[in-house]
Amino acid sequence: MHKETARLIELDREHSLVVHIGAILGWDQETYMPPKAIEERASQLALLEGLAHQKAVNPEIGELLSALETKNDLSDDEKAYVRVVRRDYDRETKLPESFVTEYAKAASISQATWAEAKRNNDFKAFESHLARMVELNRRRAAYLNPKAKPYDVLLDLYEPGSTQESIAAVFSKMKAYLVDILGKIRSRPQIEDRCEGLRVSPKTQELISGYCMKALHYERDRGRLDVSAHPFTTTLGADDVRITTRYIEDYFPSSLFSTIHESGHALYEMGIDPNPEFRGTKLAEAVSMAVHESQSRLWENIVGRSHAFWERNFSALSALLGEEGDSLDLAGFVKSVNRVSPSLIRTEADEVTYGLHVIARFELESALFDGSLSVGDMPAAWQTKYRDLLGVEAPDDRQGCLQDVHWSMGAFGYFPSYALGNLYGAQFWATLKKEVPDIEARVAEGDTLSVLKWLRANVHVHGSRYTPGELIEKVTGKPLDPVWFERYLREKYSRIYGF
Ligand code: CO
Repeated sequence: MHKETARLIELDREHSLVVHIGAILGWDQETYMPPKAIEERASQLALLEGLAHQKAVNPEIGELLSALETKNDLSDDEKAYVRVVRRDYDRETKLPESFVTEYAKAASISQATWAEAKRNNDFKAFESHLARMVELNRRRAAYLNPKAKPYDVLLDLYEPGSTQESIAAVFSKMKAYLVDILGKIRSRPQIEDRCEGLRVSPKTQELISGYCMKALHYERDRGRLDVSAHPFTTTLGADDVRITTRYIEDYFPSSLFSTIHESGHALYEMGIDPNPEFRGTKLAEAVSMAVHESQSRLWENIVGRSHAFWERNFSALSALLGEEGDSLDLAGFVKSVNRVSPSLIRTEADEVTYGLHVIARFELESALFDGSLSVGDMPAAWQTKYRDLLGVEAPDDRQGCLQDVHWSMGAFGYFPSYALGNLYGAQFWATLKKEVPDIEARVAEGDTLSVLKWLRANVHVHGSRYTPGELIEKVTGKPLDPVWFERYLREKYSRIYGF
């Protein structure tokens, strides 16, 4: 390893220590912090963010990168490392300090205004803030890459290498089959959700979550489970990856599947280890949001909602539920948790309709940034999209264009990652099934370790060694193709709904 690489690693590790300290404070804020501590906590976090920023823009990093970029004898891992450090360094240094401050302030006010506007169902109160966040993101994109289309620059922040065009191509195929599958499902007798209304105490739900984490081989000595308003996963260090869930007393599947989802994220983080020399650096970070989401969704939906998984685990669930679960049987439970029904709220959507919620947002964002949609017309445009794609109509903006926090924070370009995650996950799964043909039988016998080992060896271990596009080709032999998700959905839902 070159001495410049070694020095870069040293600087990078310091930066990541500061980021992890901030993550501990953030985790505490969402889980245990008493409400009145918020002001002091905000100051603590702001101080750390400033410190992290200083470390990230250290000119020495730029000098080391320039020196390394002229060498032609870098190892493959050094090359990959220089690429990811360069990407992050440019992102941090291309934005003027004054812009960063202006943006942070506007985003925080916008988010607070959005929360209030959502409560009051008052889009008008939020409109000017949304316009401001769009405008600030145009400027952000221009600083980062003045030659590219602004929306392309934003998409690339979350899914490196993607563009509006590349995502539109994938989504147009996905849209066609999702609409078709949904139509077939709607023509069949609908499934009744037999979990709804069962009263399961938070204590019991916590035991169920713990059981599932164990069944997935989440290592409890390298993480924890706690409760927060919105479930999340946070990495506080290579051996400290925590998850949260929330307990809804009359709908226990909510905590069960969000625990499995977050465990999927955590298993990925826990498995990253491209090269011991690069531990604690950017090379040992997740490759993209979409690949992250592929891991959580693969565990939650492909494994966690499968008949095979519950063949082995239903009796334990049943025992934990006690008398309250007497009315549930294996087949009824699996059917209930795979029920498909078009709804208004993205976060509550099933596997089939979820992609349509994301496509709606992607198309609206595209229109906002190419100028064909003005911010003031968003509520009406939202309604039209939902009517066309899902056949549902929101009674108000709270359940319409005000439902998600993302735009209020300026996170345009983030939504596609969620749906791309389903596509990556299904393509990984198809390859896993080819390489381990009896995988479903193994899962039915309680052997989820075979799934984890395969994901570890093929996906997790690499961290950011490859770009997402390179990774999917390396693992599956093909570029991202939405057909694998289509095959998975058709096979599963024709069985469940009988079409
Ligand atoms: Co997730």
